[in-house]
Amino acid sequence: MILKGRVDSHQPPGPKGLPLLGNLVDIGRDVLRYYDEWSRQYGDMVALRLAAWPAILLNRPEYIEYVLVKNHRNFIKFPFFFRHVRAIFGQGLLTSEGECWQRQRRLMAPAFQDRRLTGYVAPIVRLSERMLESWQPGELRNIHTDMMTLTLSIAAKTLFDAEVESEVAEISQAFNTITDEIAIRFRLPFRIPDPVPIPGNIRYVCGVRRIDRLVNRIIEERRQQGGDRGDLLSMLMMAKDDEGRPMSERQLRDEVITLLLAGHETTALALSWTWYLLSQHPEIDAKLAFELQHVLGGRPPVVSDLPQLLFTTQVVTEAIRLYPPVWGFGREAVGDFDIGGYTISKGTTVIISPWVLHRHPHHFERPLEFRPERWSGDLARQLPRFAYIPFGGGPRICIGNRFAMMEAALILATVASRFRLEWQNDHPVVPFPSITLRPKNGIWIKPTTRNS
Ligand code: HEM
Repeated sequence: MILKGRVDSHQPPGPKGLPLLGNLVDIGRDVLRYYDEWSRQYGDMVALRLAAWPAILLNRPEYIEYVLVKNHRNFIKFPFFFRHVRAIFGQGLLTSEGECWQRQRRLMAPAFQDRRLTGYVAPIVRLSERMLESWQPGELRNIHTDMMTLTLSIAAKTLFDAEVESEVAEISQAFNTITDEIAIRFRLPFRIPDPVPIPGNIRYVCGVRRIDRLVNRIIEERRQQGGDRGDLLSMLMMAKDDEGRPMSERQLRDEVITLLLAGHETTALALSWTWYLLSQHPEIDAKLAFELQHVLGGRPPVVSDLPQLLFTTQVVTEAIRLYPPVWGFGREAVGDFDIGGYTISKGTTVIISPWVLHRHPHHFERPLEFRPERWSGDLARQLPRFAYIPFGGGPRICIGNRFAMMEAALILATVASRFRLEWQNDHPVVPFPSITLRPKNGIWIKPTTRNS
């Protein structure tokens, strides 16, 4: 039960206030477990003790809807977090606010409409098949690395018509370094400016430079070729503001990096966790193989197959319920606000965790079980809005959500038609909540040919 009271950033709540839980050390050690336990024990709203930083974890879908939709203007994206990542994302769509965000979102939306998405099917399948050309049955593979490489090539090809395959390992490495360093920065209660030459900053800055070189190359090649290719890069390069001015060089770079980064790791993770779950559940893997055989009969998927790949889509939907690639995200209140009988003060960080919500027994029967069939009826319609939010919600919902679901279903269909992936249990899989939910040490599998 929620008690009436006031949560203030300067006054810790008293005994009649919200439970004030945890500390930076506990949360840093095992954030997923603590958030889960606290949400079960204390319910809809938990105040967190994060050094001097006032924060609440919201676990009730209606409260989340209030923050992300009904009162979204009172909340901005985590300035604390974004100060740490400015060098990489700049003012791209993920990190910008206000008019700048609105203009850029409107500009990019057409690239993610259905009409455009269907044009991405063929390159997604082609690049997936190309990946499979090098696979040998029985060899040990880190499927997470494979998925990262593949989704990066797909994002570059579909959105920017760029080939990155020769650089992909190096770029993936740079992306990993950057996100690892961001996750470390995020846990520190203070900020060390980028120019201070400590090893973490040096790694971060080198990673950013490497990505910058790639993005500059993509933009420069397009400039030299000229013309409108009808893709997202052309849209960005040809866009004009109200006064007829094109986007600045810096803004263009920020948007390209944001889409490459936001668009590839999350989808790779959705797939990596899917493979892991399938390898644990042979009966579900067999049902998937049956659908693929029935719909595709051994040929690669095409656009018209997508509506038939129902179970394939349910497998992905269920995998990102259990392992949401974005396991938590936040907002900062720009003014006081009332929620659940409390007044929460300006400056409080609101934490929303798909990991916690998606595993909540109020919303999902036997929540820890991997059961794609649960999505076959009208569960999606029956659930409270905001009980299942792998892509966030409200005006800042993931712009790539349908792209990602389509891409994941196509990759799953292409690979699982040919191979069954056997997990190697001498390589334990440990979820690691960095910025995204990663498999610590990867996911090691051996592919076996389906018909063998
Ligand atoms: C399974 C894959 C994906 C997941 C789970 C995911 C998840 C999310 C979430 C939760 C947010 C909202 C964060 C917040 O509100 O603070 C978000 C935003 C965003 N995502 Fe995704 N995403 C995925 C794939 C993609 C793809 C494929 C793209 C682009 C090609 C993309 C681009 C973006 C961008 C640009 C934003 C910021 C949107 C805005 O603020 O207007 N994402 N994503």
